[in-house]
Amino acid sequence: MRAIGRWIDERLQLSALVTAFLDRPVPRQVGWFHTLGSATLFLIVLQVVTGIALSLAYVPSPDHAYESIAFIDTMPLGAVVRGVHQWGASLLVLVVGLHALRVFAWAAYKYPRELNWVIGAFLFLVVLAFAFTGYLLPWDQKAYWATVVGTNIAGQAPLIGGAVLELLRGGQQLGAVTLARFYGIHVWVLPAALIVLVAVHLFAVVRQGIAAPPRLVPLAQPMLGESRRAAYEREYAAEKHVGKPFYEALLPDAIVALILLAIVLAAAVIIGAPLEERADPNAVGYVPRPDWYFLDLFQLLWYFTGELESLLIFGFLTVAALVFVLVPFLDRNPARHPRNRPFALNLMGATVVAVLGLTYVGATAAPSGLPVVPAVAGMSADELAGLELFNAQGCTACHSVRGVGGSAGPALPEPDAKWEAERVRRLIVSPEDEEMPAFDQLSPEELDRLVAFLLSLKPGSAP
Ligand code: HEC
Repeated sequence: MRAIGRWIDERLQLSALVTAFLDRPVPRQVGWFHTLGSATLFLIVLQVVTGIALSLAYVPSPDHAYESIAFIDTMPLGAVVRGVHQWGASLLVLVVGLHALRVFAWAAYKYPRELNWVIGAFLFLVVLAFAFTGYLLPWDQKAYWATVVGTNIAGQAPLIGGAVLELLRGGQQLGAVTLARFYGIHVWVLPAALIVLVAVHLFAVVRQGIAAPPRLVPLAQPMLGESRRAAYEREYAAEKHVGKPFYEALLPDAIVALILLAIVLAAAVIIGAPLEERADPNAVGYVPRPDWYFLDLFQLLWYFTGELESLLIFGFLTVAALVFVLVPFLDRNPARHPRNRPFALNLMGATVVAVLGLTYVGATAAPSGLPVVPAVAGMSADELAGLELFNAQGCTACHSVRGVGGSAGPALPEPDAKWEAERVRRLIVSPEDEEMPAFDQLSPEELDRLVAFLLSLKPGSAP
């Protein structure tokens, strides 16, 4: 054994590198808070391993996806692997978020680590994209309808919305191409981005050394006329001088990784990975809920539906994402200790409170509670989309269709009303009766579908 090791080492000369890596000094206070980074790495590796295992049995086609997932659940350990992948994803989003907060609170993104913050911010977005694309793969009700809603939201983005929707779905409707696309992105595009970003991120951490926690009084005071670089070098050298070897900092990392593994395994075994009914594009009454980490976004967009509002909200989200990525260049304050950065810390606190609040409201808000008109066989895609709108816009609060719905307005269709497309459209946009609110914020396409659905209700029309 040892001889083989020596033989290999003589050729690759790795041992010197490894020793240098493990023995290099790091600041003394590197400890529990710093484990969030390695915990993120650990969870990513866990996702890669379980993801590869799942891909060996998963079939990305609407005809077989659901059955292949159900089949995986019957394989030895199959359900556990699937559970670990699902719970691991949730935990990863949480831990990567905490890691970003820790780095922000300690201003570890300041000179010379600006670039690494930017890379980390992109990693965060990649993790969210993984979560979004992975959601559809089981092809159950939850997967299907959450993706309908998710892609619809993307489709509301001003200017590029239509193109994004088309690109994500691979067409107007969610179907085989959508699944192929999401699967391809989930197992090829995102992993490639992830590997490159993680590699550069870690390389930079090793090259630059781990940032010491901020001190109110720096170990080495900057001298008059000294360059930023020289002052930083001197201070970091002082930190390392009173530091410890890197391998001593590895114990907390290992402990945290083990705890996370235990949590994920426990959730996978005890709760498992839920699988709902097979996706049914006709079950329009299904009320989808995104996973917890998208609830805040879901709730935020729920408040803003009109055209101007969606412009505002997408503008806001774009700016927020840009600010997040560009933090090191926007924050010109040289101080690192939280006490000397009240603005940055307040901003961080407000963001955390807003995200938690929106998530809470999104998680507890009763899904509108209005009656839902079910679909019937033989409806066209447009009519189905119209029915979906009819339910979602709250028309059922006042109108009943086939006996389902409220009675503040007439049951639709009124027996003797003369309906043709133009008139019905006008009745929705500018109703004759004051009791019916004007639905003038709907887009022309939405109106088309709504009208198509309503006209299909007339006796004598198709279904
Ligand atoms: C707040 C209650 C209310 C809501 C919500 C509502 N309506 Fe109405 N609607 C009315 C009332 C009241 C009338 C007037 C009945 C009349 O004078 O014929 C009406 C009339 C109509 C008519 C004309 C019926 C006819 O044949 O003359 C249509 C079509 C219609 N609504 C469609 C819709 C659609 C589609 C929605 C959802 C986007 C909707 N309504 C939401 C109360 C409501």
